[in-house]
Amino acid sequence: MRLIVLGPPGAGKGTQAQRLVVNHGLVQLSTGDMLRAAVAAQTPVGIEAKAIMETGKLVPDSVVTGIISDRLDDDDIKGGFILDGFPRTLKQADALERLLAEKAMPLDGVIILEVDDDALVERVAGRFTCASCGTGYHDTFKPTKTDGVCDVCGSAEFKRRADDNAETMRTRLQAYYKDTAPLVGYYYAKGKLKSVDGMAGIDAVGAEIDALLADMKG
Ligand code: AP5
Ligand code: MG
Repeated sequence: MRLIVLGPPGAGKGTQAQRLVVNHGLVQLSTGDMLRAAVAAQTPVGIEAKAIMETGKLVPDSVVTGIISDRLDDDDIKGGFILDGFPRTLKQADALERLLAEKAMPLDGVIILEVDDDALVERVAGRFTCASCGTGYHDTFKPTKTDGVCDVCGSAEFKRRADDNAETMRTRLQAYYKDTAPLVGYYYAKGKLKSVDGMAGIDAVGAEIDALLADMKG
């Protein structure tokens, strides 16, 4: 399966992508995670992206499209992937279309997670991840089973994102509605769009996505 998961910041794209990795063996391609890794490694791309990401604006199309283009050449994605946070502009969507056509890897579907803005702010404010294995959690909606210990790897180190504050979140939401929301119509017109109620709990959203995947496989 080759999928895109679309949705505003905090909608649950990463959470559901991680679930698809575990349950369906897909590879998660998150441009946000790739950019954060580049920032941490202080690569030229990371140095350019750091200041932009801290304001909540979008990194230039050419930078993220270049990253995805390279990643699509890797062997591990041949069994299927889920794009999380890419494409995010119409230019990126057109570039992806060309890349996938060149590589004869057509998309199976685009899942849009529909979540109210108030819930997005709450989700982002409570988010934290394991510093060791990257598993995502939430103070209220997905706490660790044992306080202060990662369920998956047992690490006691956690981190919060620099862009998860109220001011940056406003800019991220503006960028979403201005630049990314038009992709909903773009993929609807191609007959690829599947809408999911992202206001439900994490497992209920996952079950709805599983049902869509079963339908796509026919
Ligand atoms: P990116 O990392 O992609 O961030 P984002 O789109 O803002 O989305 P998030 O990662 O914040 O949210 P999510 O939907 O993954 O939610 P999550 O599953 O964590 O991008 C960051 C920045 O990088 C951008 O601002 C931009 O600068 C740059 N960038 C990245 N890609 C780019 C591109 N293609 N072009 C240009 N620039 C790019 O869930 C959130 C929280 O809610 C978690 O704590 C989770 O546990 C909880 N939760 C999840 N689902 C539920 C549920 N159903 N019920 C209750 N809680 C839930
Ligand atoms: Mg994410």
